[in-house]
Amino acid sequence: SKLEMFVDELPDMPRIQGFQLVRGLPRRRSLNIGMYNVLWKFHRDLPPTPVFAYGASRSTATVPGPTIEALHGVDTYLTWLNYLPPKHILPWDPTIPTAVPSDKKGIPTVVHLHGGIHEPWSDGHADSWYTSGFRHTGPTWTNKTYRYHNLQQPGTLWYHDHAMGLTRVNLLAGLVGAYVIRQPEIESPLGLPSGDEFDRVLVVFDRSFRVDGSLYMNSTGNNPSIHPQWQPEYFGDAIIVNGKAWPYMKVRRRRYRFRIINASNARFFQLLFTNGLKFTVVASDSAYLRRPVEAREVLLAPSEIADVVVDFSKSKAGTTVLANNASYPYPSGDPVNEANGRVIKFIVEQSPEEYSSDTSKVPKWLTRYPRARLSEASQTRYIAMFEYTSPADKPTHLYLNGLPYSAPATETPRAGATELWYVINLTGDNHPLHIHLGLFTVMDQTEIQDGEKFKDCMTNLKDAVRCHLSRHASGGRKVAVSAHERGWKNVYKMMPGYVTRVLVRFSYIHSNSSYPFDPTSEPGYVYHCHILDHEDNNMMRPLKLIK
Ligand code: C2O
Ligand code: CU
Repeated sequence: SKLEMFVDELPDMPRIQGFQLVRGLPRRRSLNIGMYNVLWKFHRDLPPTPVFAYGASRSTATVPGPTIEALHGVDTYLTWLNYLPPKHILPWDPTIPTAVPSDKKGIPTVVHLHGGIHEPWSDGHADSWYTSGFRHTGPTWTNKTYRYHNLQQPGTLWYHDHAMGLTRVNLLAGLVGAYVIRQPEIESPLGLPSGDEFDRVLVVFDRSFRVDGSLYMNSTGNNPSIHPQWQPEYFGDAIIVNGKAWPYMKVRRRRYRFRIINASNARFFQLLFTNGLKFTVVASDSAYLRRPVEAREVLLAPSEIADVVVDFSKSKAGTTVLANNASYPYPSGDPVNEANGRVIKFIVEQSPEEYSSDTSKVPKWLTRYPRARLSEASQTRYIAMFEYTSPADKPTHLYLNGLPYSAPATETPRAGATELWYVINLTGDNHPLHIHLGLFTVMDQTEIQDGEKFKDCMTNLKDAVRCHLSRHASGGRKVAVSAHERGWKNVYKMMPGYVTRVLVRFSYIHSNSSYPFDPTSEPGYVYHCHILDHEDNNMMRPLKLIK
């Protein structure tokens, strides 16, 4: 039974302010947000689906969760409360490093604010998980309440679960939500479309369902003799935006700002409008660009964010579909089909009057954040990505630098430092690399000439770094980074068979100043591939800052 597209209206998730006004002045706010096992309607014709959802209360829990709206410079204190039942609604796998759900212990969860700049104990470290009522806690758990400083540049972030070995299933169950940091003194003068109606968050992911409405996830994996459930990538056949499968949205003939978050486990989206409308990209993951960039297509890996302005007054047709053209796995998997090639339909209001009342604009300049400078890099690091397979050539796990997550930290940047990372992708897939705390700019991507030799290095030698240095990458073909992706990022697509150079800065990028907290404290941070199925199976490493 095929679900009809574009029959549900796009919902707006509940908005929660991360600050309060005391005598007209913004002050810090303490929030409680819970995780609940509730039912969620993903489509008009689909029975309600059991999900795990974030909400201020059980009755207001949604998938995705509420959008938290924080104010630059005003702390938000957040207590994320686990009210989940003991039994998971999805299959998981005890053969990967994982916090184990059980009838006695409950379901381990821990929330990471993706793109947030805060101390390690507020970062949702994978080992800082806890179960319902904090009855059981992971080895690095310390405190119930997190402090988000919101001292970074304004932009779009998102929060999601990060529990060890359960990230892919906890997100699949619904534990995702958006978080926006606003800074009116900087943003209002820009004149971008604003306000609840014209500045919208779109959280996009793919899911498969059984006819009874429940989420479908393969429960035997693709290599069951080694991993009874784990599979290298989850792909769903329905595209969900703000909790509805292929919704529609009625828009006026004017500009809108969309903060598009790819919250999929493994699916890339190459977004484009069927009627040729363009995106004006103004920001990416958590930071504005220097100036707006027009693009006909925007490629988003899992966890990447495109913050775009779309001008529907330029639409000749009455409707336009936001389509997807990314193969899966990306880039050499199956091409999109009728179902996963569609995302959302916009129905453009016919009367032209509204256009004249559109006072928003896209300014020539957005911000002048300092650029990353190669000369400032105080460290060079090499990060090799490799996929290990069984004798039958089925993926068993992925490592960074030939090391499992449990090996002691090898990446130990100094607080305040700028570092140059060479990320060497020796696999056939594109992996979105996400670095906690730091922000980076992508310099270039260069084809690896002697990829086969590198593979030897990875299988024969533990020390991939030394191996790389000894066979130093040659001057292969270079691929330029798209203009709209040259700003500050916290995640980027590592092309297969290429070395990607990124300049990472461990300080506030908008001010160059150091952190008003101790980033060197326990339990430290992590960096990882944001394909969740990879992250859960060892494509994650500790990131330990030093003084
Ligand atoms: Cu969005 Cu470590 O994750
Ligand atoms: Cu990966």
